[in-house]
Amino acid sequence: MNDLLNQIASIEADADRELGKIKSGEDLKLFRARFIGKSGAVTKLLKMLGTLPPPERPAAGKKINELKDNVLNKISEAEGGLMSAEVGNVLQEKIDVTLPGRVSAWPGRTHPLNQTLKKIEDIFTGLGFSIYEGPEVETDYYNFQALNMPKDHPARDMQDTFYINPPSPPFSKGGKGGLGCDLLLRTHTSPVQIHVMEKLKPPVRMIFPGAVYRRDADVTHSPMFNQVEGLMVDKGIRMSDLKGVLTEFVREMFGERLGVRFRPSFFPFTEPSAELDMQCVACGGKKSSPPCRLCKETGWMEILGCGMVDPNVFDAVGYDHKKVSGFAFGMGVERIAMLKLGISDIRMFYENDVRFLKQF
Ligand code: PHE
Repeated sequence: MNDLLNQIASIEADADRELGKIKSGEDLKLFRARFIGKSGAVTKLLKMLGTLPPPERPAAGKKINELKDNVLNKISEAEGGLMSAEVGNVLQEKIDVTLPGRVSAWPGRTHPLNQTLKKIEDIFTGLGFSIYEGPEVETDYYNFQALNMPKDHPARDMQDTFYINPPSPPFSKGGKGGLGCDLLLRTHTSPVQIHVMEKLKPPVRMIFPGAVYRRDADVTHSPMFNQVEGLMVDKGIRMSDLKGVLTEFVREMFGERLGVRFRPSFFPFTEPSAELDMQCVACGGKKSSPPCRLCKETGWMEILGCGMVDPNVFDAVGYDHKKVSGFAFGMGVERIAMLKLGISDIRMFYENDVRFLKQF
């Protein structure tokens, strides 16, 4: 019995010493195994109990169980200590709330120009127009001549472009299409009118989006930009149809609040021709206080060119201008996007700076 009491005392002293060394969950596990695990010191004592003479067993069993309780208490004490240490660590952690958050991936989004184009297309398809795309490399015939702009027409001056040298003779120059014709990058989407009318009989109700090219570059002009052309041809189409469709377009694009006006203008391929202005998105047509820079204090902004298809254009595609009539219009997608989104420099669309792109 004395021997047993000595053993108990030494195990207890061991446990006390080891307790002080517990710094982690792993240490605690080892501690538990060492004393009350399958072959732990306390467990061994309990197993030994059966070898004692029967009269000594109850007293010895009591002592050993007391030892076991002590060890278990020490374990829960150590557990508590570990837990509060952990909470302390978390509380001590310094969090800088001004640091930018961690983003696992930047979600992509539609480019503002394509957002604008999509909106334009949605409005016109809602009005019954379908969408068709023509080529960006054109012949002189489609880009100019068929649109009532013969070789020496002064209206060509405003649409200087990028010419591609034609193959040298024996090919003849200046024909309708194919080899030997003057090739150029189209200056507007109007040549698609010609392609479509050559292929289809009236009625036609279509829009033609796409890139166009001009020798032009400043904060509001780019050598490459995008247009959406519209064409509607049928029996009895009148200027009032043109006004109705385009007024509805402006309403849906910019809201009901801003007025529109059709200002007489000139295009060789429409007669009569007009430019569509809408009240300034910045000053709402008030012009001043403070002086509005967007509309240059006129209260109006030009948004597109339009008109009734010129009979000469119908003649070029073989439509009978005595039987059908129609209207056409052309707008710049960048211009609409700049007005709609309040962007002042056209070049931002092409720089692919995510700081700009992610704002839309
Ligand atoms: N093509 C003309 C331009 O680019 C716009 C336009 C299209 C005008 C159709 C009238 C009719 O300036």
